[in-house]
Amino acid sequence: MIDIDFLNMPDRDIRELQVLFSEEEIDKRTQELAEMIDEEFPQDEPLYVISILKGSVLFVCDLIKKMKTPIQLEFIKVSSYGNEFKSTGNVKIIDSKIPNLNDQNVLIVDDICDTGNTGKELLQIFKNDYHIKKLKFVTLINKRCNRTTDVDPDFYGFEVDDKFLVGYGLDYIGFYRNLPYVGWFPQ
Ligand code: IMP
Ligand code: MG
Repeated sequence: MIDIDFLNMPDRDIRELQVLFSEEEIDKRTQELAEMIDEEFPQDEPLYVISILKGSVLFVCDLIKKMKTPIQLEFIKVSSYGNEFKSTGNVKIIDSKIPNLNDQNVLIVDDICDTGNTGKELLQIFKNDYHIKKLKFVTLINKRCNRTTDVDPDFYGFEVDDKFLVGYGLDYIGFYRNLPYVGWFPQ
């Protein structure tokens, strides 16, 4: 159980939040990622973009708007965090109605790769369940310093050190996802 009163973050003054990546920086980097992803996949075949709820929603919407590859957008929900801070390493798909992905190109999209548990487990599940033509993993943020697995996103927007981030999909107990930038609260 998280001690919300102790952490008190939703009541923090939003003016204390330091912007790490501005709306403009995210937009520019997302454009670069879209171009790299377009180059990676054939332009005459559908690409199944699998967005991991809820954190990647803002990122995936902006990313696909900038892509030229014909895409099919799908969403999955996973349970990975025992609480909001520590990845349990026990990742399960808890809600998904994705179509058969045999012989398809697939891009998994998440907000952040932290321990790497989510990415590793999902890549494994997809590889086990389907014969996928080409499978890639993109995240907006790469927190490589926290990695406990051997997974690394094929594409990522920004690398950060060990900060707890909020905004642009990233939440703290459900708050701050709607900020148009990524920030953090300095101690
Ligand atoms: P991983 O399985 O440890 O790589 O973590 C992936 C998930 O942890 C992300 O999809 C986020 O939901 C969450 N997460 C990790 N770091 C942060 C953070 O700094 N802010 C908000 N959520 C985070
Ligand atoms: Mg998430």
